Amino acid sequence: MLLGVNIDHVATLRNARGGVEPDVIKAADICEANGASSITTHLREDRRHIKDDDVYTLIKTIKTKLNLEMAMADDIQKIALEIKPYSICLVPEKRQEVTTEGGLDVAGQLDRITKFIKPILDNGTIVSLFIDPEDKQVEASAKTGAQFIEMHTGRYSNAFQTDNEEKEFLALKNAAKLAQNLGLKVNAGHGLNYENVYRMHEIPDLKELNIGHSIISRAVFTGLSQAVQDMNEAIK
Ligand code: PXP
Repeated sequence: MLLGVNIDHVATLRNARGGVEPDVIKAADICEANGASSITTHLREDRRHIKDDDVYTLIKTIKTKLNLEMAMADDIQKIALEIKPYSICLVPEKRQEVTTEGGLDVAGQLDRITKFIKPILDNGTIVSLFIDPEDKQVEASAKTGAQFIEMHTGRYSNAFQTDNEEKEFLALKNAAKLAQNLGLKVNAGHGLNYENVYRMHEIPDLKELNIGHSIISRAVFTGLSQAVQDMNEAIK
């Protein structure tokens, strides 16, 4: 099972000051140097974290694979066609949400999604659909031409170590099996952390996990001692 790292949170921190620090390109480089199989960035319609320039630079600097998360917006489709990332992951997007709250309703907009991803597929980019682990969404996804689904693990993550954990975990396991039977490859992500991630091994043939928040959060603490020591050195 591979680990794709989502670096959006590095951009969020950078944008808080409007400067260049911390550098998202360097963050991607460090992730790759330490075992990330791909780098994910979500170019949101409001550009609240990753900006167009980041994506145009990342496509040149990334040595593994760029996975571009995007909503069904024409201007972002244009960018995807121009830069030709290794893969895109189509997500639903609401402007007010803090993060991607639910999966894409593929069943409810099958024609629209099929038409939207066609030029991206024709351009040689792999397409993944971010969906909740529900049969009707998996079945619809298999009809779109997309090669992958990414299962939204948010409900499982929230239910971890509660009475609902087993139900939410089984939903993921069953959805993965159905998807694989229908010829789809399966990734997963959202809300996974250092405690709940281990159960992903109980789902056969999961290809890649896309994880962001828990990794960047941990990085603050694994890096803070050194950062304080370095500043004390600089002051001296
Ligand atoms: N996969 C998708 C499609 C997402 O939208 C996100 C959040 O940006 C992630 C994975 C990573 O989620 P988290 O930051 O909770 O690890």
